[in-house]
Amino acid sequence: MKTKFLYRYLSMILVTGGAGYIGSHTILVLLEAGYDVVVFDNLSNGSTEAIKRVERLANRKVHFEHGDIRDRKGLDEVLATYPVTAAIHFAGLKAVGESMKKPLEYFDNNVSGSIQLLKALRQAGVFNIVFSSSATVYGDPGTPVFNEEMPTGTPSNTYGYTKLVVEELLKKTQAADPRWRVALLRYFNPVGAHQSGTIGEDPAGIPNNLLPFIAQVAVGKRQQLSIFGDDYPTPDGTCLRDYIHVMDLAEGHVSALQALKRFDKGGVGIWNLGGGQGHSVLEMVKAFEKASGQAVPYQVAPRREGDLAQFWADPGKAKRELGWEVERTLHDMMADTWRWQSKNPNGYQK
Ligand code: NAD
Ligand code: WQD
Repeated sequence: MKTKFLYRYLSMILVTGGAGYIGSHTILVLLEAGYDVVVFDNLSNGSTEAIKRVERLANRKVHFEHGDIRDRKGLDEVLATYPVTAAIHFAGLKAVGESMKKPLEYFDNNVSGSIQLLKALRQAGVFNIVFSSSATVYGDPGTPVFNEEMPTGTPSNTYGYTKLVVEELLKKTQAADPRWRVALLRYFNPVGAHQSGTIGEDPAGIPNNLLPFIAQVAVGKRQQLSIFGDDYPTPDGTCLRDYIHVMDLAEGHVSALQALKRFDKGGVGIWNLGGGQGHSVLEMVKAFEKASGQAVPYQVAPRREGDLAQFWADPGKAKRELGWEVERTLHDMMADTWRWQSKNPNGYQK
């Protein structure tokens, strides 16, 4: 175990959305760091099989409560049952394209759900919360390196807008009541899987994101990848993103929980969780082929609306204030994705 996880400040963590992709990896890291975990998830995009596998990996129990964050009564019951000291809030909808077609569902799940959660936490006297935000809140600042001092911008889609609204909701809630300690974690592009290959990302239907799509092509579930544009002003013409291994991301949550404890008078901490380096779509394809030994056929397709040419995190603030930085390489991201995908070609459904 790493030294940075030796100190346990908070004990029982409520993890909303803990049956999903990032949540399942985070609960594993929490258990391994000695925390107790209660997951609250409506299973709209999560799996109890993921939780069972986490329990086996950690050799510890996860408390699971099936429920929806928009249901205040359900939240109150959970908070009355477990001695929760902090919440990590992953629950929400995340598909960019779908969010443009279903704004009411996105605002309802992501914004109304967060309001119910904050009210329930306040009533239970729990004032520590870590929120899953996204680099999308920067909008298009006109520079590729995003740092936390920059003002937030206008996200190009409704999903991103809900993240910005919840960030504002949390900031204003904390400003009105200094008992709150809030971490806003702005993720860049989470990819990869636990190194065992037993838990990973299990997208429903056609994957929206690059790496799950590549992995499904490699395993033979899809014919070829479409690369959305090769005429961007980047070295090889394809877009650059800051891909971060999901286990590095999960560890960032534990570091953020520990940092909150140091906020004697409450406060809001905003941290980018990224590696600080951009990789192009073509680089990703090549790196995946190398790590997996599989060919990934592709065609170049038109640009996708709303895509920025390139951006990556300035990860300096997280390093200084959380003592956290990424440890895993691009090869690790690819090898672990392939291990998960090849061992579980149909995800959690065998
Ligand atoms: P995911 O869909 O795998 O996990 C979300 C979980 O929340 C699922 O298990 C789902 O069943 C649950 N959920 C959804 N709505 C709920 C509700 N109303 N009540 C209770 N549970 C509900 O997504 P993920 O990739 O693990 O993302 C986790 C969080 O991180 C999300 O808030 C997402 O917006 C944010 N985020 C994700 C990415 C990414 O690229 N994956 C990037 C930035 C931020
Ligand atoms: C990465 C690159 C595509 C698929 C999204 C959300 C963001 C955050 C992370 C939640 C881009 C290209 C992709 C494909 C391709 N999510 N691509 N062919 O768009 O950077 O970020 O996920 O908060 O809010 O917008 O990630 O994986 O979709 O795309 O060429 O089939 O791969 O154009 O350059 P993105 P992505």
